[in-house]
Amino acid sequence: MKSIALVNFKGGAGKTTATLLLAKYAAIRMNKKVLLVDFDSQMNLTLAIEMEENKGQLNKDFENWSEAHQSNQKSFAHLIENYEKVKGDQFNFSPSNYIFKISPNLHLVPADVDMYWLEFDVYDREKVKNSIKNFLIKLNQSNLKYDYVFFDCPANFNDLSYSVLSAVDMVLVPVNPDVLANKALNLFIDGLVRRIKSLSQSKISIFMNKAKIIRDFYLTKESKFYLNDIKGVKANLDKIGTKVNVFDCFLPEGIDLQKIMVNQSFPVEYDEYCKCLLTNIQKLLEEE
Ligand SMILES: Nc1ncnc2c1ncn2[C@@H]1O[C@H](COP(=O)(O)OP(=O)(O)OP(=O)(O)O)[C@@H](O)[C@H]1O
Ligand SMILES: [Mg+2]
Repeated sequence: MKSIALVNFKGGAGKTTATLLLAKYAAIRMNKKVLLVDFDSQMNLTLAIEMEENKGQLNKDFENWSEAHQSNQKSFAHLIENYEKVKGDQFNFSPSNYIFKISPNLHLVPADVDMYWLEFDVYDREKVKNSIKNFLIKLNQSNLKYDYVFFDCPANFNDLSYSVLSAVDMVLVPVNPDVLANKALNLFIDGLVRRIKSLSQSKISIFMNKAKIIRDFYLTKESKFYLNDIKGVKANLDKIGTKVNVFDCFLPEGIDLQKIMVNQSFPVEYDEYCKCLLTNIQKLLEEE
């Protein structure tokens, strides 16, 4: 089982879109077993699954599941609160109480509004920092046998983000082709590696989202410039001993979230972009 967190402190870079796209590609086209974890209290990923772009209809199965589990205090926020109370680092939970099965290969741990308040409701901050590491250990020991776990992270940093970023196998950063994005990238990565000592730098990978293309895999001059700029950021980080990966693969501008939301299907026009990214991701993860 490999875990990947999509993260960037810049809002709107495409964390949620890329999470859903890559997870669905892995589940539908690669026949991998995939768990999505919506770690953002904005609940965008959860809403995308709930709405499933089914002519405005809500996903009734999800609604029913959600009602049953959330009213029984079986939300992810509740799980973390319980973890705080458990002695030691034993994470006792039954995954099926927290996991909605979108399809046999694609599952979701939804976010809920209580996650907004978790930071205030949880007192043992040091303990919470280990929560996701132990959540992943427990998942790995379960019979669910996931190939990939994708975390859609929020555009801010707290103890919960720490717990995710210090535990995952890869931190995947979508960056848009613009001047400010690249400036922010440098500061963001530098800050991350200084604060999360356990985050081995080679686990950080960057790719361009919303890349402007002439056609297929051909970037416009402008986007090429920004991709080189990202590589420049990488070279500068290298000089101070922080090694990160920059993918030549990208996701193009024009990805339509509504198309990815349609249940059980995957838009063929995004195949090659996802294949390229996931092949590279897989290669890096296997190198470990
Ligand atoms: N490749 C793309 N092409 C076109 N639109 C995109 C692309 N990627 C993302 N978007 C759009 O950009 C907006 C922000 O994307 P998304 O919600 O995925 O970003 P995010 O990083 O998760 O944002 P937040 O920081 O709020 O969580 C959305 O309207 C989404 O549809
Ligand atoms: Mg998001």
